[in-house]
Amino acid sequence: MPRIVVVGSINMDLVTVAQRFPAPGETLLGERFLSVHGGKGGNQAVAAARLGAEVHMVGAVGDDAFATSMCEELKHEGVDISHVARIENCSSGTASITVAGGENEIVVVPGANAHLQPSHVAKAQHLIASADAVLVQMEIPLETVEATLRTAHALRVPVILNPAPAQRLPTECLQLARYITPNQHELAILLGADADEDFLSLMRRAPCPVVLTRGAEGAWFREESEPQHQAGFAVDAVDSTGAGDTFNAALAVFLHEGLAVAVRKACAAAALSVTRLGARGGMPHRTQLETLLAKHQA
Ligand code: RIB
Ligand code: NA
Repeated sequence: MPRIVVVGSINMDLVTVAQRFPAPGETLLGERFLSVHGGKGGNQAVAAARLGAEVHMVGAVGDDAFATSMCEELKHEGVDISHVARIENCSSGTASITVAGGENEIVVVPGANAHLQPSHVAKAQHLIASADAVLVQMEIPLETVEATLRTAHALRVPVILNPAPAQRLPTECLQLARYITPNQHELAILLGADADEDFLSLMRRAPCPVVLTRGAEGAWFREESEPQHQAGFAVDAVDSTGAGDTFNAALAVFLHEGLAVAVRKACAAAALSVTRLGARGGMPHRTQLETLLAKHQA
């Protein structure tokens, strides 16, 4: 059972399902509303736990009603929340999400996530030291992302940086990551490149190994060699929210089986995740993942 530490955001997702996205200034009648648990950090923690990992979450919630429910939900999924801080006089993170035709648009208000400090990472250092992998995303302060990369790197624990939402990062910082897992758009921002530069050329000049996600087209990965492709698994997409989180979690959980195997399993897990509404809706348990992989083995 791999041990995973996730350093990242916890949000409440306020999801509206509509036929299409509204234009600026337009009021549209939607079809459905639901509030579900989300946040890239929380989602990755839950996805890893469902795949059978021992998961420790380093994060922050506010002092509102969402906070209690967020913590209960993580606990219920088997995630250790002893390093989730409660921030006084602060709202919990929220994401207003519109889903239309299997695509999404998201506005995140960080709230308590903005108060996750390098000191919180320092307090979890003993957990990081004994982890098989660390996952970190960019919905928390940059200095906390950096502290996570530095801590894991110093302890020789592989750290996966999921650069979402993307910001430009210094090369020294990227070099601390065992893998970065952007999509094409995020990789361009991360490297400060032109948005229309070919993704293979972006991958070749990244200062660290890259696993690049391509939605339904699967993923590309590159360590020292030329980029290699892993095809996607065809499914009926309902909601792509959380697909990247499921991908990252599976990558971390199966990393010890080798990169190519881990990427294949991550693509399969991500495919299953988009078949249901909500970020955590379709996230597979290990047996569901194994069933899909077995079907494609023959
Ligand atoms: O990656 C999906 C997540 O991004 C959602 O759950 C939402 O909270 C946003 O943070
Ligand atoms: Na989903």
